[in-house]
Amino acid sequence: MSSYPVIAIDGPAGAGKSTVARQLAKRLGFFLLDTGAIYRCLALFAEQQGIGWDQGVALAALAANLPIRFGREAEDGQVFLADLVVTGAIRTPEISLGASQVSAHPPVRGALLGLQRRLATMGPCVVEGRDIGTVVLPGALLKLFLTASSEVRAQRRFEELTRRGVTADREATRREQEERDRRDETREAAPLRIADDAVVVDTSELALPEVLDKVESLCRQRISAEAEQSGAASSSSVVQPSEGQKR
Ligand code: DC
Repeated sequence: MSSYPVIAIDGPAGAGKSTVARQLAKRLGFFLLDTGAIYRCLALFAEQQGIGWDQGVALAALAANLPIRFGREAEDGQVFLADLVVTGAIRTPEISLGASQVSAHPPVRGALLGLQRRLATMGPCVVEGRDIGTVVLPGALLKLFLTASSEVRAQRRFEELTRRGVTADREATRREQEERDRRDETREAAPLRIADDAVVVDTSELALPEVLDKVESLCRQRISAEAEQSGAASSSSVVQPSEGQKR
């Protein structure tokens, strides 16, 4: 388990997780671990290797040695697969579908568990995904579950694709999202679920700065409560003089 603070952010596609996670990490000075990018890289890698997205066992073997790397500092935000930049290539609608399919296989999820946990021990981090608070890092300091109505989420997805120059159809975007939601929520392995101790933030009616202020303040409260608690724990572990010694 990591000795660094971990903020877990889970939720469905289009709830604003990626933007919130990135900016929250920046505000806190934490690094960002985008676990969706790992499943996306696996879908892309499988396609390059001629392995179908329905081949759970073969995909798990590929996942066990996935040559993924997240850029730091000057390369911040970049994702590398076998040393090639794939930051844009993993964000197409086709790879979104592939990532959703490969992530449904229990052997794949198992094979990627160690990688995600290892990456999360590298420093204080914000970890974004679907099962971070429930499965990957259940001991996270704070678990946030970001959500929004399905109409708002589909509209945001459409705007994001259009902004990135990807030709998208509004209705098709909504249908694809519903299909992904259904698969993510009903799959056997680690379905999208709200952890019992998660704080749910509905972003439907909130602008990004409001969401960020809210989650940042939740994080800072939790971080200082934890610091106080560990301070109290270490001072209470100081050996108190016995009654006899006091006199
Ligand atoms: O967050 P994203 O859209 O980049 O995720 C891509 C897919 O990967 C999505 O369909 C759900 C899946 N995923 C997952 O199953 N578990 C995670 N921790 C992260 C993503």
